[in-house]
Amino acid sequence: MATPTSAQQWTSDANEALTLSLVRAPEDKASLWAREAYEGFHPTFTYPIFGEEEKIYGYKDLSIELKFASGSLVEYLNVKYSEKLPSSSTVDDIEGTLSKFIPPGYYTDEQKFLERVEQDAINFKPFGQKIYSYTRSATTLTKGKNVAIPQLLSPEDEETVDFEVYHSTWQTPGFREFHRRMQLFVLLYIEGGSYISESEDSWEFVVLYEKRRRRSSPDITTYHFVGYSTLYPFYCFPERVRLRISQFLILPPYQQDGHGSALYTAIYQHVLGSPSIAELTVEDPAEAFEDLRDRNDLKMLLANEKFMREGFGPEAASNNGGKVARTKRGKARTMRAGAGKMGPPAERGWLEKWRTDLKIAGRQFNRLVEMLILKHMD
Ligand code: ACO
Repeated sequence: MATPTSAQQWTSDANEALTLSLVRAPEDKASLWAREAYEGFHPTFTYPIFGEEEKIYGYKDLSIELKFASGSLVEYLNVKYSEKLPSSSTVDDIEGTLSKFIPPGYYTDEQKFLERVEQDAINFKPFGQKIYSYTRSATTLTKGKNVAIPQLLSPEDEETVDFEVYHSTWQTPGFREFHRRMQLFVLLYIEGGSYISESEDSWEFVVLYEKRRRRSSPDITTYHFVGYSTLYPFYCFPERVRLRISQFLILPPYQQDGHGSALYTAIYQHVLGSPSIAELTVEDPAEAFEDLRDRNDLKMLLANEKFMREGFGPEAASNNGGKVARTKRGKARTMRAGAGKMGPPAERGWLEKWRTDLKIAGRQFNRLVEMLILKHMD
């Protein structure tokens, strides 16, 4: 086996060295996902912080603990190692580097941090307006997780857990400071993600929290951060806006449990319910997000009886005489050629009317219709 070179011995993988965790007060109910959050999870990317190679030089057995109070996201930073090279220009300054990306005022004394966690557990409340909520059964939320379940749900834990989504802007009191702590997750989990400008006034935000009642004092409600999205309204002729999802993330301990879908649904419902918003668009979606968007948009269309009946029911087939509406990319017509049965009416404006009523962006709506046509050809 090759022996590591001296440089390798002093080099750490930044994604492995950095561990994040979300800390709850001891009295707060710990369920499976909370335990995962507490035990720690790693970033997917650290190149925006530690450079393209995602390596940290100058330490042995390096461990960087970055803990967050589960609701307020107040931070605690602890850098540990067994050996450090004598200080020289080549040894990375970990705290100096990280502190450029997290706001000042983070804790380095764990005891003081834990006292703050306790205070925040009681005092922290979400910023802005509640726009959406949903409930999950605690046992559903543990499905598919590769961890033994016993002690995770104590008998007195309620069987259902509430989740709430809050909408805010820079003007919402306290939100700007909260966002300065939260935005680090964009660098760590969204490929190509970068901080947004605080001088751009128009940004809007939606934040998803888990809401629990404290075990020992059920009158105390605690909130725990799950994920968030940044939204930007662009002018849309003549007097409305087009709302664009810019950044969207669910923290790893909460992924694969339908929370991403719920947050997307919250945003979509907000768009549908706001007369000033013409449509919802997405900025440069990652593949996983595109998949989530397609699944949720399709589910919504399939549940819309009128749309499905007019576009894909027997009514559509008989009215159509074999012709179907042409989507912008023209694929629908190509696929339909010769099939002669179902598909959206060829009647001018039918697709566009539904698209504007449902506030879905043009390209996305065409893709969805194409998917539905394919589904109905089977
Ligand atoms: N129980 C178990 N599994 C479920 C449940 C449920 N109740 N509901 C949905 N799922 C499954 C879905 O079927 C889906 O499975 P699939 O991937 O095999 O299709 C999977 O869970 C994901 O769906 P959700 O759980 O709704 O989504 P999730 O909460 O995992 O969020 C997201 C997805 C946002 C992409 C998340 O993984 C993430 O934040 N990733 C890192 C950051 C990122 O890439 N963000 C998007 C960048 S693009 C942009 O910002 C515009």
